[in-house]
Amino acid sequence: MNGAVSMLRPPATNPATRPELTDALRASVAAKSAAAVELLRAAVTEFGSNGEVTFANSFGAEDMVLTDLILGEKLPIEIFSLDTGRLPAETYTLMGEVEQRYGTRLKVFFPKSDAVETYVRTHGINAFYESVDMRKACCHMRKVEPLQRALSGKKAWVTGLRAAQSTTRTGLPTRELDAGNGLVKLNPLSDWSEAEVWAYIRIHEVPYNALHEQFYPSIGCAPCTRAIAVGEDVRAGRWWWEDPASKECGLHVKKD
Ligand code: ADX
Ligand code: SF4
Repeated sequence: MNGAVSMLRPPATNPATRPELTDALRASVAAKSAAAVELLRAAVTEFGSNGEVTFANSFGAEDMVLTDLILGEKLPIEIFSLDTGRLPAETYTLMGEVEQRYGTRLKVFFPKSDAVETYVRTHGINAFYESVDMRKACCHMRKVEPLQRALSGKKAWVTGLRAAQSTTRTGLPTRELDAGNGLVKLNPLSDWSEAEVWAYIRIHEVPYNALHEQFYPSIGCAPCTRAIAVGEDVRAGRWWWEDPASKECGLHVKKD
């Protein structure tokens, strides 16, 4: 079954997903992987090993590194995902691969059906293209509200954010206080480069989203994600019709 799914993947086309595995790159990946595991272990020691620490898994390349580290090291960290109802087919394929490869059942949170029904009946099925407010309302109902449920009662959450992903993430620390959600936020890959992420995936043969091969470095909902051109910012394909300064969906809000 795994083989059959893999055979459906188009041929590799994006060189960014296949960095040259030099000794220097392998060494930096090994060192940063060890540091990430150390940070996660310290969080378990500090906050608890009964689901107090939870990892938000979107199945992007960074999150596949964290998934592999957490499940490979058998760290007692819960893993959850937000299914917005508008994810690309490739993401669901990967979700199934993850269940098979790691022998696990995913903990998926869905939006409230009545909120989605009201929004769609009032504003239209693709109203998020009409204005930033309409887009943010959609992200709120499909991502932020389910995230709040996922984080309820937790003490720390882990993300796959990297500082180099966008101007809104520059200077991202590995640990911060998430004042909006009232808990600690850990970003173990904050100082990883895109090449280090892909080197980890290749070295450990981690499954990944087939869209990455089609020049989608950052993958969210299908209607709000496109491929990027050579030289474009890695998040240029997210909400591409909006100003870069407004391109966060509300999951990662800074409260200064
Ligand atoms: S977003 O805010 O623009 O959507 P992005 O796709 O870059 O975020 O992902 C950053 C981090 O947010 C991911 O590494 C993951 O921890 C979390 N995240 C984003 N989308 C989801 C999702 N659908 N389910 C769970 N976590 C998510
Ligand atoms: Fe809605 Fe697009 Fe936000 Fe997904 S990314 S929740 S479809 S506005």
